[in-house]
Amino acid sequence: MYAGKFITLEGIDGAGKSTQLAYLSALLQQKQQTVVVTREPGGTALGERLRALLLDQSSAMHPETEALLMFAARREHIDKVIVPALQDGSWVVSDRFTDASFAYQGGGRQIDREKLALLEQWVQGGLQPDLTLFFDVPIELGLQRVSAMKTPDRFEQERQDFFRRVRDAYLARACEFPQRIHIIDARQPVNAVKAEVASTIETLCAGSRL
Ligand SMILES: Nc1ncnc2c1ncn2[C@@H]1O[C@H](COP(=O)(O)OP(=O)(O)OP(=O)(O)O)[C@@H](O)[C@H]1O
Ligand SMILES: [Mg+2]
Repeated sequence: MYAGKFITLEGIDGAGKSTQLAYLSALLQQKQQTVVVTREPGGTALGERLRALLLDQSSAMHPETEALLMFAARREHIDKVIVPALQDGSWVVSDRFTDASFAYQGGGRQIDREKLALLEQWVQGGLQPDLTLFFDVPIELGLQRVSAMKTPDRFEQERQDFFRRVRDAYLARACEFPQRIHIIDARQPVNAVKAEVASTIETLCAGSRL
């Protein structure tokens, strides 16, 4: 148990994670909490370099290389950012974490879940988020939202069946860890999603007597 809380945001591309992360961070600051906002892959100098390799359309790699690089970046992220901040009593809010590896590398790339679970145990030990917000949207809607924004990265250029497997793997993970993973219907307008984020955080704060 740490003094701070660890919250992760998950969902397929375009689900609204970054939009809600900005809102959540402001909400926690209003509650006088120190907030460390971070992301995966990335969050450290080395992790951001790995992120650039992982997202670059020209870096073809074996699916297991991709998974290992994700967990390598995560090992660094936990050691340099997440655990020190939690020890200091800060709240850590991360745009993606390990559920994304089970969704993208497990579901999308079809890597054996047992291999990912071994890496999870190796890299995290007992560390798990206190709460994960899974923003669920149909893949067509998520892809429509991102395609309006920017040129696709190495993941975003994948085909629809890839994203269908990613979403299904996220949903399976949410079924497996119902206490930790809260599913939010992210088809709703931004303000309705924000209201659900706020009420979920209120419940977490009430449990911690904040
Ligand atoms: N609930 C919503 N309704 C309609 N549009 C939304 C909603 N949430 C976010 N958007 C818009 O959809 C686009 C993608 O949102 P955002 O960047 O927050 O998604 P993301 O999950 O972070 O995507 P990525 O995985 O690509 O980083 C943005 O243009 C954002 O303004
Ligand atoms: Mg984003």
